[in-house]
Amino acid sequence: TWLHLAGLVLGYLLGSIPFGLLLTGAAGLGDIRKIGSGNIGATNVLRTGNKPLALATLLLDGGKGAAAVLVARYAFPEAGPLLPLIAGGGAMLGHLYPVWLGFKGGKGVATSLGTLLALDWRVGALACATWLLIALLFRYSSLSALLALALAPVFAWFLAGPALAIFAIIVAALVWWRHRENIRRLLKGEEPKIGQKKG
Ligand code: G3P
Repeated sequence: TWLHLAGLVLGYLLGSIPFGLLLTGAAGLGDIRKIGSGNIGATNVLRTGNKPLALATLLLDGGKGAAAVLVARYAFPEAGPLLPLIAGGGAMLGHLYPVWLGFKGGKGVATSLGTLLALDWRVGALACATWLLIALLFRYSSLSALLALALAPVFAWFLAGPALAIFAIIVAALVWWRHRENIRRLLKGEEPKIGQKKG
């Protein structure tokens, strides 16, 4: 329906706000795309050395994914359970492929976790806990994200059901695809650890 299309577009627009780029630019740190991995996400903002800004990027990038889902759910309850999924999917696409940045966006970790938290907080919380556990054990942001997203469909299947599991599979596939270079670096042992500028 037109409401589903509107949800997709609204989600996309929310998701396409590049908070990491905007915050580092406003803080006078230069273009985050020329620093570290070149990514616009919280992990790379941390490489500027500004921890509060990295935290703000994490929360805002996660928050926009959650906001897309919550607006869809509570502003249009008559649309049914598919609309929040579509709005969350739109936010992911907006973050990964923002029209404003020539479709070169982020890697979707914070946004996917925010989206999952809003869709089913238990699934989101388990994915976040997985990220934290792997990060504490191995200190690689990308590895933590890859494993958290890989497990998200399993959590969703058992706690929420097939619709969220299918959504989580699609989101995980997108996040893995955007981490191709990280995967290559991890396999070569060249991935920098959290907070490190070089591997
Ligand atoms: O937030 C994305 C993270 O998983 C990897 O970021 O900058 O190390 O490529 P980065």
